[in-house]
Amino acid sequence: MSELPAYKTIIVTKIDNSAGLKVGQIQFNRPDVLNALNIELMGELLDALQKFDKDGETGCIIITGSAKAFAAGADIKEMATQSAIDMHIRDQFAVWDKIRKIKKPVIAAVSGFALGGGCELSMACDMIVAAESAKFGQPEIKLGVIPGAGGTQRLTRAIGKARAMEMILTGRMYSAREMYEAGLVSRLADDEVFIEEAVALAKEIASMPPIALQMAKDSILKAFDTTIEGGLEYERKAFYLLFASEDMKEGMGAFVEKRKPKWKGK
Ligand code: CAA
Repeated sequence: MSELPAYKTIIVTKIDNSAGLKVGQIQFNRPDVLNALNIELMGELLDALQKFDKDGETGCIIITGSAKAFAAGADIKEMATQSAIDMHIRDQFAVWDKIRKIKKPVIAAVSGFALGGGCELSMACDMIVAAESAKFGQPEIKLGVIPGAGGTQRLTRAIGKARAMEMILTGRMYSAREMYEAGLVSRLADDEVFIEEAVALAKEIASMPPIALQMAKDSILKAFDTTIEGGLEYERKAFYLLFASEDMKEGMGAFVEKRKPKWKGK
């Protein structure tokens, strides 16, 4: 991807990384509505994610918003007049299944509001780096609905049944620190430096061998939808398969020869 596409609702950039592959950054750009996730934005987000996923120069992807909002949820104004059949026919959450299929690691860099679909999107990413000001919540209950883009499932797996129940049944907002302590957020940083922290983490990950990264991500995600036995089997097969990669030969060779490895992504 030498030329980055221009979008209406997101801004995409590539960040150079002296240690390895570049970092692809996607920033939501609907400031007037606190980055509410309308159908157009979700379509553009998926397109950008898929392009970065296929791009040989990109090793890791960051999704971020603005200081005030990562995203304040699905676009309520777009949904408010829909009937159940409209929702069924346009199946707007189907796009989320494709986001789940992105192979490269994706980091959510969250400041401000991450509510409803915004919270769910951060959880659909592989890691969450949060600014101290970030606020997480699933307020759908206050609108007469429930989380519809994975909240009841991902939140429960991430922070446990009791805390997920409280969060979803009250619709309350929780601080980044509370979510860090609950295990939803992997890294907490001051507002002034949180994006640098997220980029540093993304660069570190993007300096690792790409095929092994993808196998590691895939195997970790397997833990959520299989038995321990099935998951261990899956991990072992992925481990053995990596012995067919040039990067495995390079990684182990470089260790033995006491030099820095040069990854090929093959
Ligand atoms: N959809 C559409 N517009 C939204 C929005 C949303 N989710 N969230 C905020 N906006 C709009 C507001 O309507 C407002 O627009 P106007 O200036 O035209 O009135 C603008 O963004 C700024 O918002 P506020 O004036 O409300 O800002 P605030 O600082 O006073 O409050 C807030 C911030 C607490 C986040 C409040 O905006 C809010 O409660 N937003 C809705 C949060 C929500 O309920 N999210 C869940 C959506 S449903 C969902 O996500 C389903 C799912 O599972 C996928």
